[in-house]
Amino acid sequence: MKVEELLKPFPIKEFHPFPRAMLGPGAWELLGPEAKKLGFSRILVMTSGLRGSETVPKIVGSLRYHGLEVVVYDKVESNPKDYNVMDAVALYQENQCDSFISIGGGSSHDACKGARISVAHDGRSVNEFEGFNKSENPKNPPHIAVSTTAGTGSETSWAYVITDTTTDPEKPHKYVAFDDASVATLAVDDPTLYYDCPVDYTAQCGFDVLAHASEPYVSRLNFPPSLGNALYAIRLTAENLRQATWNPQDLPGREGMMYAQYIAAQAFNSGGLGIIHSISHAVSAFYDTHHGLNNAIALPRVWAFNMPVAYRRFADIAQVMGVDTHGMTDVQAAEAALAAAIRLLRDVGIPEKFTDVTQDTYSKNRLGLGPTKLYENSPVIRGDDEDIDRITNHVLGDACTPGNAKECTFQTVRPVVDHCLNGDLDDLLS
Ligand SMILES: [Fe+2]
Repeated sequence: MKVEELLKPFPIKEFHPFPRAMLGPGAWELLGPEAKKLGFSRILVMTSGLRGSETVPKIVGSLRYHGLEVVVYDKVESNPKDYNVMDAVALYQENQCDSFISIGGGSSHDACKGARISVAHDGRSVNEFEGFNKSENPKNPPHIAVSTTAGTGSETSWAYVITDTTTDPEKPHKYVAFDDASVATLAVDDPTLYYDCPVDYTAQCGFDVLAHASEPYVSRLNFPPSLGNALYAIRLTAENLRQATWNPQDLPGREGMMYAQYIAAQAFNSGGLGIIHSISHAVSAFYDTHHGLNNAIALPRVWAFNMPVAYRRFADIAQVMGVDTHGMTDVQAAEAALAAAIRLLRDVGIPEKFTDVTQDTYSKNRLGLGPTKLYENSPVIRGDDEDIDRITNHVLGDACTPGNAKECTFQTVRPVVDHCLNGDLDDLLS
């Protein structure tokens, strides 16, 4: 069912499935036995490589110790491209693999989900499955998703995001596919694998969590089973992101963010997203910037945009972010939530607008292979009129836009995009 259909009068709400999961320190050591229990024999591991950490060799070594055969595809790029998916599909078929394990953040998990769907359709292009439940074969290979970040939630969600590079090399199209057939078989969220995540990635991924949690909490889908998880994920993020960012070996901080990621994704899975994500996808499509970084920059502007239709909900958000809302009106409390989000963004050192972002201020593909072929000559983010227009148009076509708290048109969204690119965050504080 499409988001537009869910917004019609008398909608039937749809609850999408989650995989079984193992959460907690040391969970990764159960991968071999769990894979064998699931019938894995020859596994394709999909990852960016997580270079600079020992995570991939450690896990692959453990799988082999348990008698499993492993083939590694370690070229998944940040904002995974269609050719990453199809290269992995070819490797899977050549080696006659029977199962997948993805190790990393959203890029690795999403590319892996796309590869499974393609394998189940005789290697058809992943781009053919853009949209809602486009898979025609629910029987695709089993998949264990092992998280090394706390942001994406892709290990437990029915969403995957791919950049289609085939349409126009100058204007890549980044799309979200929502597909029940893409849900992993087993999710593993082990906070000890998250210790090696760099400071900037940790901060940026944390704002992906805050977007995953806050967008369904104010979405027009207004799905009750999502609301409790959404609020609690916001609380966990407000309480743990600073520690996880600045004290990487702090287990409570890392574990708190892992749980925040997990339940925030379960909130948006059926509760919808909004234009924080749509703006983020558009900027990644054109500039290949990090998804979490984009969400962090878009979040305060989109909260301010949506606030007039959801003061009460934003007042709840203020409370779980630690604001003492006693004696405040809903409007005052909602504004305090926005101030708390901006404070968090500044405390964890995230750039405040897109034109402040240069290739030096975000660690593009630092754990992967380096600049990708599409973007190696990518200019700094321009933020001129033409840029604002193309980003706004991409936003309006995004599958997350219909769920946004407020109806979106070119005229209403363009100033939000302009502010993300060029505006000062202090403008949003009353
Ligand atoms: Fe996200």
